[in-house]
Amino acid sequence: MALCGLLLILPASSILEPAAAAGTSAFVKPAPNVAPVEDPPRASESPTGETHPARLALERNPIYDESNPDYLRLQRIDEAMRFVKRDAIGFPDWMVALRSGAISPRAGLSTTERMDVFDLDIVMKNTKEMPYVLFPHQSHTLWLDCSNCHPRPFLPKAGSNPVSMSQIFRGEYCGMCHDRVAFITFFSCDRCHSVAQGVSAQKK
Ligand code: HEC
Ligand code: HEC
Ligand code: HEC
Repeated sequence: MALCGLLLILPASSILEPAAAAGTSAFVKPAPNVAPVEDPPRASESPTGETHPARLALERNPIYDESNPDYLRLQRIDEAMRFVKRDAIGFPDWMVALRSGAISPRAGLSTTERMDVFDLDIVMKNTKEMPYVLFPHQSHTLWLDCSNCHPRPFLPKAGSNPVSMSQIFRGEYCGMCHDRVAFITFFSCDRCHSVAQGVSAQKK
């Protein structure tokens, strides 16, 4: 499963915090039990002149101990990711990487297993003033099993799961993976909230 690889690369809770602290939106709060992070450095403090708060947080490198002599033997993320296309905010776009064949995770321990790909889009409309959420089964079942989501955290019945953003930011529902191993929720509202309200439901 590809997820363990992704986990190393996206230290999500630490990325979420600086932006959440900026107070863009009142309901967006970091998980209560994560260590406080100081304000992101200003652009002038960044060796690469980076300004986006998400990438600044990555640059600050909260995971590794830079004083460890073996630190320099680790492969740098930019080197490891140089063949992977970036998403709109500059992080690796794992869906593009998968679909283009840049990565090809195994479906199981043996080489014979195949993913059970399921092509069903679900439009979730409990979004207040935001565009509706389009949940694509196809993108997820290319590398996840039905049992990763059904019956927990999602009962397999459209509209039967009361999902709120605060729960997602706390790591429930979509937030079990998004912000943790999949793309960062705070910076990518539009990747989930992708269907304008009042427009007919299905994508294709
Ligand atoms: C990983 C997917 C995902 C991302 C990214 C995402 N949302 Fe949501 N959002 C959802 C889902 C799912 C719901 C619930 C929809 C439903 O139950 O019908 C929701 C519901 C909402 C709601 C209504 C419910 C509530 O809690 O108030 C608002 C407002 C909202 N989102 C705003 C945002 C904003 C602003 C962002 C970016 C900072 C964002 N969302 C990013 C998936 C996402
Ligand atoms: C990454 C999470 C995830 C995975 C993996 C997943 N689903 Fe779902 N599934 C959902 C969500 C989210 C919904 C919508 C729930 C809602 O609207 O409250 C849903 C809804 C459904 C529904 C209800 C459709 C309807 O119209 O009522 C069925 C059936 C379903 N899934 C089957 C499957 C099957 C079969 C698989 C594996 C091949 C699968 N799902 C894999 C998240 C997932
Ligand atoms: C079990 C883990 C898991 C859950 C739960 C989950 N996702 Fe994802 N999702 C992923 C992974 C892994 C990817 C691919 C990695 C990435 O794009 O960062 C992904 C990608 C996506 C994409 C991009 C699809 C594309 O083709 O570009 C969208 C949109 C998305 N998820 C929405 C949602 C929404 C909405 C929910 C909740 C209703 C949800 N996801 C729940 C793991 C999950």
